[in-house]
Amino acid sequence: MESEYKLLGGAMVTLALATSALVVVPYLQVKKVEPSPGLKPYTEVQLRGRQQYIDMGCVYCHSQQPRSQNQAPDFQRGWGRASVAGDYFYDTPHLLGTMRTGPDLLNIGARQPSVDWHLGHLYQPRAYTPGSNMPSYPFMFELKDKAEEGDKVVNLPGDFAPEGKVVVAKQEALDLVEYLLALDRTYPVAPASVIK
Ligand code: HEC
Repeated sequence: MESEYKLLGGAMVTLALATSALVVVPYLQVKKVEPSPGLKPYTEVQLRGRQQYIDMGCVYCHSQQPRSQNQAPDFQRGWGRASVAGDYFYDTPHLLGTMRTGPDLLNIGARQPSVDWHLGHLYQPRAYTPGSNMPSYPFMFELKDKAEEGDKVVNLPGDFAPEGKVVVAKQEALDLVEYLLALDRTYPVAPASVIK
């Protein structure tokens, strides 16, 4: 009988040690992340655009995590400084991505602030980058005989415009571009926020 108590006691001590080592201590070590100063929360429109980004699978080809200047030429590529945890404060779920078939987009809003460029590029990437393997998203646009009041007409370069029609951006395309323009983490961050 006595040895059973010892066994039980030993098991409980082991369990307590395991819980504190594997649950309590790691929990205490996780630091609370604050938003980077300079980061703004997404607006309603930008959040709708962010949902489009998820729905259209942009994350399958684009990362949102420039690496440190020492490790990779991301900074020289113009993709921005290495990101810190606070840069993603409003990103749930995060869209870090794992593939870089296309460029990193965490700072695309700073690198390419033109709404017209983005709309045209979504309608037909090859109109801007010959040979691009990015899919086109024509279903986010409407082809009309004539633009109506309030329509956002997309001016495509060269002979990419469909003959006799105007290309008008649908709301989802406009939302998506608003989100892309919000991707701008070029504000400075204190070195302290990198390692806390
Ligand atoms: C099959 C992979 C693939 C998918 C999916 C994809 N892209 Fe791309 N994207 C690329 C490639 C490759 C480039 C570089 C060539 C170019 O500019 O078209 C690119 C370029 C871009 C650029 C210009 C980046 C720069 O630095 O100039 C933007 C903006 C962009 N993509 C947005 C998107 C969005 C938004 C979506 C989803 C609606 C998307 N991409 C889906 C492959 C992809």
